[in-house]
Amino acid sequence: MRFSLNVDHIATLRNARGEVQPDPVTAALLAEQSGVDGIVVHLREDRRHVNERDLRLLRELITTKLDMEMAPVEEIIKIACDVQPELATLVPEKRQELTTEGGLNIIDDIAQIKSAIKDLHKANIEVSVFIEPDIDQINAAAEIESDFIEIHTGVYANAESEEEEFDELERIRLGAKQAKKLGLGVNAGHGLNYLNMKIFRELSDIDEVSIGQAVIARALFVGLNEAVKEMINIIR
Ligand code: PXP
Repeated sequence: MRFSLNVDHIATLRNARGEVQPDPVTAALLAEQSGVDGIVVHLREDRRHVNERDLRLLRELITTKLDMEMAPVEEIIKIACDVQPELATLVPEKRQELTTEGGLNIIDDIAQIKSAIKDLHKANIEVSVFIEPDIDQINAAAEIESDFIEIHTGVYANAESEEEEFDELERIRLGAKQAKKLGLGVNAGHGLNYLNMKIFRELSDIDEVSIGQAVIARALFVGLNEAVKEMINIIR
């Protein structure tokens, strides 16, 4: 299982004071030295965390891979086509949310998402869609020729009982299996942390996890290098 680090929270902290520090690009480079397999950023329409300059610097400087989370809208698709991340992960976006609150509904928004995938493919960018571990959504992702899915793990991470946690983990396991059967790559993320990864890492059909909050929060106390290495030790 690979591990990509989301550095949006570094940018959020920087933006809180309108300063230049802490710099998400420096964080990404340090995280690469500590062994992450990729860097994830979400260029939001309101530029709440990373901005276009961060994105372009990351594209220039990182040596692993860039996963750009984005809403399937024209302005951001244009930027993605120009910046050329290795992967574009399509996510739903609402202005008032604190963070992404759930997966895309591919079935309801099929025309918009299909057209975004087509435009990104034309620019030779692989595409992932952030969805719930729901078999109909996974089948729809394959139908509209997404290359990957990213399974939303928020329900698993926020489970209030062991039973709910187990049931959701099983739903994720079956969803990942179905995606693999359809030839899709399988990523997962949202709310994964140092505790819940100990069970999650057993899911053999998950190719990669995307983690932000838990690792950046831990980095404040132990440093980014240590926080990344601790997570890598759990995942592998
Ligand atoms: N994957 C997606 C699509 C996300 O939107 C986020 C949150 O930015 C993550 C993964 C990482 O979630 P967390 O910060 O809870 O680890």
